[in-house]
Amino acid sequence: MNMIAAESFAVGSTPVEEVPEDDLQPAFEFRNLHRFFGKLKAVNNVTFKAYPGQVVGFIGPNGAGKTTSMRVLATLDLPTAGDAFVEGLSVVDDPDNVRRIMGFMPDAFGTYPNVNIVEYLDFYSRAYGFTGRQRRDAVDRVLTFTDLSRLAEKPIDTLSKGLSQRLGLGRTLIHDPHVLILDEPAAGLDPRARVELRELIHLLAVNLKKTILISSHILTELSEICDSAAIIEAGKILACGTVTEIMQTLSDRRGRGTATLTVRVLQGAEALERLLLQQPFVGLVSTAGSTLSFQFEGDDRARVALLKRLVDQGAQIVEFSGKTENLEDAFMAITEGIMQ
Ligand SMILES: Nc1ncnc2c1ncn2[C@@H]1O[C@H](COP(=O)(O)OP(=O)(O)O)[C@@H](O)[C@H]1O
Ligand SMILES: [Mg+2]
Repeated sequence: MNMIAAESFAVGSTPVEEVPEDDLQPAFEFRNLHRFFGKLKAVNNVTFKAYPGQVVGFIGPNGAGKTTSMRVLATLDLPTAGDAFVEGLSVVDDPDNVRRIMGFMPDAFGTYPNVNIVEYLDFYSRAYGFTGRQRRDAVDRVLTFTDLSRLAEKPIDTLSKGLSQRLGLGRTLIHDPHVLILDEPAAGLDPRARVELRELIHLLAVNLKKTILISSHILTELSEICDSAAIIEAGKILACGTVTEIMQTLSDRRGRGTATLTVRVLQGAEALERLLLQQPFVGLVSTAGSTLSFQFEGDDRARVALLKRLVDQGAQIVEFSGKTENLEDAFMAITEGIMQ
């Protein structure tokens, strides 16, 4: 699959055995989206889509165009060209109906003095047009889901970062939208709050079948949350697909079958380095203390043969392992550090 500048490429796997992909409506879609600010091409032909229940990471450095793309999808800004859709509805032609089924959590939202949690949520419940019992039910549902019921009376300007992000997510859920757009929700959270956020996102996607687009400039925040990702830099999508597919792109670029292997020895690292350099498929050996890392281009059989030869030659091997590439490696390899 060509991952680069993927034309109308669907992010992630779809349940093709149940529904043919062409018949399944994407939960959201960016289609040749452009948004320019004067000469600056903040969003430059962004195209990707996601299907119901997917959690899609929107990954890119600061200034890449994530917020600008998300604001268009959230009907808060208009494209220079192209369009974006939520469940088939155009954000340009049908913004009112898009807002009913989409929730947007901005990267920063205001705190107001003298407003407590329940009042804050009730304000949004009214803003979405709920009245009477529905209005109370919407607030209660969100308080329960976010586990904020106990803190209902707490003034919102006294909340920790973690709690205020949880409230922000809650506010996004008031009208029970199908598609959630979360702009850097994990930014600045401590590890515990991050785990809690991850659990909420998991519940939303898996139990409640929400489709979630979640941005970050920090890879480690996303790799555990997302099943698929789109990598953006300087307004352009550089790669998109399932996390596995993006990893595959990375190994394709490095040369098919290339892996980084690591060997730790009890002693004799220097001798092993010389020995390794004489072996087939081995390149780029680097040694740090008793640990050696090297590129290996052979298949699994060649790996078995290599290990046997090293042991036969007297290497005292304690550990022999392949490094698992992660999203961060993919990001570093795919992006180039372009600034505009
Ligand atoms: N309203 C605006 N006017 C002018 N330039 C903008 C505006 N909004 C964003 N930009 C610029 O567009 C680029 C993309 O910004 P943004 O979408 O916020 O990136 P990200 O969210 O990935 O950090 C940046 O160079 C930013 O300065
Ligand atoms: Mg941003």
